[in-house]
Amino acid sequence: MFSCKILRRTALSSCLRISVSRLITTASTPALSGKTCLITGGSRGIGLAIASRLATDGASCILLSRTLSVAQDAASELDTSMGQMHEAVQLDVASTRRVWTADDLGGVDPASIDIVVNAAGVAQTKLLCLMTPEEIEDIVFTNLMGTIYSCRTFARSMMRSRTEKSILNISSVLSSRAGRGSSIYAACKGGIEGLTKALATELGGKRVRVNAIRPGLINTGMLSESVSSKAEQAFLERIPAGRTGSVEEVSDAAMFLIKNTYCNGAILTLDGGFSVSL
Ligand SMILES: NC(=O)c1ccc[n+]([C@@H]2O[C@H](COP(=O)([O-])OP(=O)(O)OC[C@H]3O[C@@H](n4cnc5c(N)ncnc54)[C@H](OP(=O)(O)O)[C@@H]3O)[C@@H](O)[C@H]2O)c1
Repeated sequence: MFSCKILRRTALSSCLRISVSRLITTASTPALSGKTCLITGGSRGIGLAIASRLATDGASCILLSRTLSVAQDAASELDTSMGQMHEAVQLDVASTRRVWTADDLGGVDPASIDIVVNAAGVAQTKLLCLMTPEEIEDIVFTNLMGTIYSCRTFARSMMRSRTEKSILNISSVLSSRAGRGSSIYAACKGGIEGLTKALATELGGKRVRVNAIRPGLINTGMLSESVSSKAEQAFLERIPAGRTGSVEEVSDAAMFLIKNTYCNGAILTLDGGFSVSL
């Protein structure tokens, strides 16, 4: 009887210990600890904000952009409190025009990447009839082909892996609410949405999820460099929220799409109500 009580108490206390230690492990292990993320356009703006959130969740980040020093400075500011390490890679996504190799990626093995965020992009500031073929191609090869080759580079090894992988593409409300002077940019963003949905079906059965965010007007360098304050004011009047979005709001949405394991093929609009207003 006595030994039975002791046994019950011992069993109960070891059960409690296990549950408490499980709770501690769950609470203290960051969701993305041990994951490696590559963020194109990660040196500033939306890409950097998403990288920052990924790092805060424990992931290691590789920031890719054309200007190495800016990407290096950005990488040095990311959270390392959980032992995660970050690096910068210089690559012009518009110039390779083929599948990226480890050499293109500064020695990074494409198979080591768990999460890819395709945020590299350039804006358009001219009417189509005034654009040279070089200007048109720069936008297409950066925004659309850059995203396509990035997906092509990482998709194969992601499909072969036994663990969950995720690709996040960055579209724009201009994919469906195009305005004057955004023809090629809009075509690229429409293409990115088609790519996202088709890839979600091609890769979804292999534990690789592909999603996209469709942001409206977001307060970044791209906005200040490509939209005049007069045009921005006119745009703002058509946004029910009455303001631009922040990179933190975009990165909140990004984390949902990256982490929610049932989310595949989603195009999440984040535009303060712009695209549903008359
Ligand atoms: N801001 C908005 O209102 C808004 C709205 C909707 C969608 N978006 C989309 O969101 C994404 C990020 O935009 P953002 O506003 O954060 O722009 P941003 O502040 O201008 O940042 C663009 C990033 O892309 C990199 N980049 C540009 N061309 C590149 C190339 N050829 N190869 C490699 N990296 C390149 C830039 O670094 P380097 O210049 O050093 O290469 C930078 O890191 C873009 O795809 C954009 O189309 C933005």
